[in-house]
Amino acid sequence: MSKVKVGIIGSRFQADCVAAAVKAVPEEAELVAVASPTKGNAAAFAKRHGVPHAYTDYRELLRNPEVEMISITAPNRLHAEITIAAAKAGKHVVCEKPLCMTLEEADAMIDVCRQAGVLLLYAEELFFAPKYVKAKQMADEGAFGRVHLVKQGEKHSGPHADWFWDVSQSGGGAVMDLGCHGIAFCWWFLGKQKVKSVYSHMATQVHRDRTEGEDEAVTIIEFANGAVGMVESSWNRPGGMDDCIEVFGDKGQTYADMLMGNALPTYSEVGFGYAVEKAASTKGWSYPVFEEQWNYGFPQEMRHFARCVRGTETPISDGETGRMVQEVLYAAYASAGQGCRIALPFRPKGVAKPIDLWKPIPVAPVRKLSS
Ligand SMILES: NC(=O)c1ccc[n+]([C@@H]2O[C@H](COP(=O)([O-])OP(=O)(O)OC[C@H]3O[C@@H](n4cnc5c(N)ncnc54)[C@H](O)[C@@H]3O)[C@@H](O)[C@H]2O)c1
Repeated sequence: MSKVKVGIIGSRFQADCVAAAVKAVPEEAELVAVASPTKGNAAAFAKRHGVPHAYTDYRELLRNPEVEMISITAPNRLHAEITIAAAKAGKHVVCEKPLCMTLEEADAMIDVCRQAGVLLLYAEELFFAPKYVKAKQMADEGAFGRVHLVKQGEKHSGPHADWFWDVSQSGGGAVMDLGCHGIAFCWWFLGKQKVKSVYSHMATQVHRDRTEGEDEAVTIIEFANGAVGMVESSWNRPGGMDDCIEVFGDKGQTYADMLMGNALPTYSEVGFGYAVEKAASTKGWSYPVFEEQWNYGFPQEMRHFARCVRGTETPISDGETGRMVQEVLYAAYASAGQGCRIALPFRPKGVAKPIDLWKPIPVAPVRKLSS
């Protein structure tokens, strides 16, 4: 089977991740192009990863007949526009999470890709993270009996790029950025059950000077079979990325810590190069993770997507997955705004971005006690 020729749109954080994933599956895919608007960035990325073609406008990349599949690693507000242009150019699309800003965009992305006969693949690497895949295999085998509660948490100290903090570009805060993983994870883990209702509590606890978005949230998802998903999302946890799951059934349970649980508890007085994503320091105690990309499932995800393009595998994560997540995101923000559970289907029209459905709940000022 020939290698799938991949073009990456964007040239920074996730673009490097996608490039590493492609290079980790050389028999399945190869990088042929990159596009990024900031002067010099695409060229530098091309040099760093040995990519033959670099463009400043993604439309030029879409005109390159060599490119079969694109990977969108641009900010959220651009996902729909780029997907639609790519589908019209006949390219298969891998879209990073979250799928887009609005449900209308999600519908349009799915429709255009379907009409063009190209795949719309939703990049949710947790479906490929080896520890989580093992947990699901055991659950599907019946190891835990009937699973009634699945928890996923993704927490770090806050995003690396300014646009994440600007809700007009990101669509929301920690739930939009990290909660989208947990929503998809719980749904996938529980066998893609329909979502019945969503309850979410959100607050901006720490970063009020940087964002109008929520930086801390707990979201509870009720599925059609009665099982519950609980998703914790935080931009307020220094010390490096933390991604964990817990699974509970009537016959057992399992816990998986994707990063710290696969790291070397390390103490260094002088520090060293790199421990884990978003860890600010390697001095003192730290948790350097090995095979970070593989632990996340990025190469495994890329192998699957390349095989989907070649028709040897059926997508386990596609535009419909992204749209389901988008609807739950809408419901989560509306729930946090209204202080009540939101039943699905929930498809309010004309919402510009999910966070518009939420009104921040003020944190009460700390009262000084008189002595
Ligand atoms: N799956 C994951 O775990 C994961 C991790 C990080 C980011 N992401 C997602 O990937 C996307 C990118 O995030 P990031 O962390 O790489 O952000 P980033 O800010 O590090 O990189 C964004 C890139 O997009 C480029 N860009 C901006 N406007 C563009 C345009 N008009 N055309 C082409 N490129 C443009 C920027 O120049 C930059 O290279 C986001 O949607 C984010 O949610 C997913």
